Amino acid sequence: MDGTGSGENGHKGPRHVAIIMDGNGRWAQMRRRPRLFGHQAGARRVREIVEACPDLGVRYLTIFAFSTENWKRTQAEVTGLMYLFRRYITREMQAFVKEGVCVRFIGDRLRLDPKLQALMDEAETLTRDCTKVNLTIALNYGARDEVARAIRDLAADVKAGRLEPDAVDETTLTRYLDTQVLPDPDLVIRTSGEARVSNFLLWQSAYAEYEFIDTLWPDFSREIFAEVVARYATRDRRFGAVKA
Ligand code: IPE
Ligand code: IPE
Ligand code: MG
Repeated sequence: MDGTGSGENGHKGPRHVAIIMDGNGRWAQMRRRPRLFGHQAGARRVREIVEACPDLGVRYLTIFAFSTENWKRTQAEVTGLMYLFRRYITREMQAFVKEGVCVRFIGDRLRLDPKLQALMDEAETLTRDCTKVNLTIALNYGARDEVARAIRDLAADVKAGRLEPDAVDETTLTRYLDTQVLPDPDLVIRTSGEARVSNFLLWQSAYAEYEFIDTLWPDFSREIFAEVVARYATRDRRFGAVKA
């Protein structure tokens, strides 16, 4: 355990870190290799970052793996990514159990291949009682899509008489989001030098701290992660208030 945080209440480190894992394609391009080579290298990085979480006091890690907009890529890349996700979940499932990693998926999974959906369900069930780290993988996730689906479900409950329109407040809407069981992210990291949010956790990150770092995702390391987390502890989060 280092000085960044104990993971208990009151520590200064982020409890929930969300990462936009960007730059796999450029990493591969720099090596004159196909984009999928970069995605494979990127997938291999995830375990190291997950394993680093307990020592850094990070209880929740959420990673953006595939956006609702990523379907616009070539069929070859999309197919390759979907295959990679299946292989990744199959391979890592037992390791997650062993490491105490509770896995959840957010995003619209119904648009994904049934075989991939089955693996996602299996990983969630298998790791349900793990408590060391909460890993959330955003797969076919888009924040606007998430909010639209939440409102659709909420409207259905209103129509069925289960919910009064006047009773709808921020807490109500939060309960309909894919992230209903997660705390809001404290820190959002995006790799690869792009300073944009690309439809990631828009509602949940209203008061998150952001870090845009130049490192491409396949080069992101435990050391860089620890540095970014340490920097977070020096920030002054005011949530709109003025400190006395
Ligand atoms: C992020 O890397 C992974 C996914 C979006 C699936 P990119 O594939 O976006 O890599 P760049 O941005 O083209 O370098
Ligand atoms: C965001 O990265 C999505 C993921 C990291 C999965 P993109 O590479 O798709 O985002 P844009 O297109 O640069 O905004
Ligand atoms: Mg990108």
